[in-house]
Amino acid sequence: MTQYIGILTAGGDSPGLNAAIRGVGKTGQNVYGMQIIGFRDGFRGLMENRTVALNSAALSGILTIGGTILGTSRDKPQKMPIGNKTMDMTEVMLETYRNHHLDVLVCLGGGGTAKNAYHLMQHGLNIITLPKTIDNDVAMTDVTFGFDTALTIATEAIDRLHSTAHSHHRIIVVEVMGHNTGWLALGAGIAGGADVILIPEIPYNIERVAGSIRQRVREGKAFSIVAVSEGAVPDDLRAKMDKVLKNGKGKKAKAELAALEAERMNSTQRLTQQLEQLTGLESRVTILGHVQRGGIPSAADRLLATRLGAACARYIHEERFGIMVAARGDSTEAVPLEQVVGKRKTVPLDHPWIETARSLGVSLGD
Ligand code: F6P
Repeated sequence: MTQYIGILTAGGDSPGLNAAIRGVGKTGQNVYGMQIIGFRDGFRGLMENRTVALNSAALSGILTIGGTILGTSRDKPQKMPIGNKTMDMTEVMLETYRNHHLDVLVCLGGGGTAKNAYHLMQHGLNIITLPKTIDNDVAMTDVTFGFDTALTIATEAIDRLHSTAHSHHRIIVVEVMGHNTGWLALGAGIAGGADVILIPEIPYNIERVAGSIRQRVREGKAFSIVAVSEGAVPDDLRAKMDKVLKNGKGKKAKAELAALEAERMNSTQRLTQQLEQLTGLESRVTILGHVQRGGIPSAADRLLATRLGAACARYIHEERFGIMVAARGDSTEAVPLEQVVGKRKTVPLDHPWIETARSLGVSLGD
């Protein structure tokens, strides 16, 4: 019996998405004779029944293209902005699924997508997810596709910032994405030879960061590269946040937390100014932003996304639903979605990358 597969990509785009779509589609068609359709723009396209036929021609020539040929959005089934309202559109999506006689909906995305997909699963749909995000923060998989490409881009940026920092005897603070985890900043910081690496998992002390830079100056190194994760937080701000989280209640606590969060979001600029004041070195900030998500996927991401996609088609054939296709060494594993949803993979404080950075004399701000 022919199996009918729907695919969508949701959340922030990521290099390797097209390789994964191609991996599912080609294996599904070539090996199992499956029929594949894509939904445009994440869960919104499922709601609006906007489809793309993913036949053999459509799957050809997409391996190296960045972004997603399907388009994406951060829309959630149960909280869909419609006009100026937010509505639960779950039922409409279930109807689209039924009307296409789908056997499974494959959702390519990060933690948020897994949660939304799980919601649809609880409403009776057969679901499989694939772990995509440049942040590498999806639980229960060794790695996510998109991470390697972003790591390479951020590392190259840090490489390039070295020569200008060195020439001007400056501090250059480079902000790296990663949401609330430090994988990208830590990985790129080590690979690019940053002198200070600040990640959300280790609240930083500004005096200690400045101290490590002054020490470098005493050693004759009149420039420094500081790789800071967008989610990094100074220790005093972290303490204030923890206090509100612990003791605060109701609307007041919510407002206080929002104000503290806004302060955290601007902390890279403030960090740069503080370092200039505390060290006497001229300082500049570079925010890498979405350039880290753009362009062609690295070879490692193409390989990872392709093999996860191919494995996904095999799991569909075996009717193993309600799972995420996780990367496990050179192989894959079908992890029940319950074990993925609501979790975030942060950098463990005893992770070898942290040990490595410390052993090289890199300041982690603590
Ligand atoms: O999750 C991927 C990511 O690029 C994060 O690193 C970043 O915090 C976020 O998405 C940015 O989201 P948006 O593109 O919606 O601004």
